[in-house]
Amino acid sequence: MQNERPGMTIQLCFVCLGNICRSPTAEGVMLHLIEQRGLSHCIKVDSAGTGGYHLGEPADPRSVQAARRRGVHLPSRARQFEKSDFKRFDYILAMDSSNLQALERLAAGQHLGKIHLLRDFDAQSARGSSVPDPYYGGDRGFEEVLDQCFEACQGLLQHLIQQHQL
Ligand code: 4NP
Repeated sequence: MQNERPGMTIQLCFVCLGNICRSPTAEGVMLHLIEQRGLSHCIKVDSAGTGGYHLGEPADPRSVQAARRRGVHLPSRARQFEKSDFKRFDYILAMDSSNLQALERLAAGQHLGKIHLLRDFDAQSARGSSVPDPYYGGDRGFEEVLDQCFEACQGLLQHLIQQHQL
């Protein structure tokens, strides 16, 4: 198989607040891009929320619709990010600066190097940019989440390919 590197799997976890809009979208977009590049065997993807308001729920129907229009499937079920996830994942990708702060607090001084803002992998966006929460807004917000996830996930995938020689 192409790009096979036995024994090496990179684990990614996208994190937002509710784990029903933004992080499931980033998860689905990243899965889509990884599949296109034939790298599904060496990069694994998950998502979680810093809050636990929607545990077990599928992605928000507005996110599912917006993703479907671009050929992206969102397979997630909402779960809350746990302390043990810091060990399991290699890259923990916060969707906004408040998610980033919540993760840094939970990490309590450990694994800080694994935590990143997703959009910092998008060279076109200003450093420190967030993916805004679309939950209480209109359809436009969900389209913007898709745009921003595509741009940032493409940058993230490029980074992984270079950094890990995939
Ligand atoms: P998400 O959006 O963090 O992108 O999944 C939200 C979904 C639900 C809530 C907040 C944000 N909520 O408060 O229920």
